[in-house]
Amino acid sequence: MNKDEAVALLSKSEAPIVAIILGSGLGLLTEAFTDKKHVKYDEIDGFPQSTVEGHSGQFVTGRLMGVRVIAAQGRFHYYEGYNLKQILSLVDFFHAMRIKELVISNAAGLINTDYHVGEIFGISDCLDFTGQAAAAGELSLCRISEKEQSIMTKAAESIFKKLVFGKYVWTTGPSYETPAEIRYFRSLGGDLVGMSTMPEIIKARSLGMQVYPFSVATNFASGISGNALSHDEVKETAETIKSHFASLISELVNLIGKQNFDI
Ligand code: HPA
Repeated sequence: MNKDEAVALLSKSEAPIVAIILGSGLGLLTEAFTDKKHVKYDEIDGFPQSTVEGHSGQFVTGRLMGVRVIAAQGRFHYYEGYNLKQILSLVDFFHAMRIKELVISNAAGLINTDYHVGEIFGISDCLDFTGQAAAAGELSLCRISEKEQSIMTKAAESIFKKLVFGKYVWTTGPSYETPAEIRYFRSLGGDLVGMSTMPEIIKARSLGMQVYPFSVATNFASGISGNALSHDEVKETAETIKSHFASLISELVNLIGKQNFDI
């Protein structure tokens, strides 16, 4: 099918109002969806494919807390050889569905040693270490508004203590960073590091969406713990946190749904 047919199929009967991009190992959330429908990325002509383990490569629609949602299980990164337009194809797809509320998640390395691996953070702003972010849109759009932050904070209140907001540093990969780069990022105010999310935030907000970005700290960033970093460690930590993460996102979707019904 082509992209328009996929949009029509996934919007049929009732269109989703919230979209969720699920990071590495965080796909469990869709198990809580009712009335599920899915379309695999490889069923859509010309759509990029997920090549990373832990990213299954499909859209799943359904209801979460009674709210119509669509999740992207799997995203696209520079380190897979994709260009910026391909990296942004999930956001473009959600825009074609007229979605105005986007939850973004990722697995990230933790730079700020005041915190712990396994914790979930809100992202309040980003630093670009790829030199590519401005091609996604106006960089100032990356700053998450007080309103967006307050809904994220409220969702977290009922699940765990206070949500901490951090600055996310975007790198291209495919390699993890050097210890010296991580010390440099810390000196610039970076708290988390990862290979996604920043261009998605900028693009989605330039299209008028409200964006709620989260990082799951799956490992200490390079050079902090002395252990070698691996994608297996990232997946293992994501595995231990995924039910906690699912509760947080469910509560957030509940609040966003309420806000939309109030309008
Ligand atoms: N660096 C970059 N990306 C990541 C990391 C990291 O330490 N952990 C998970 N994604």
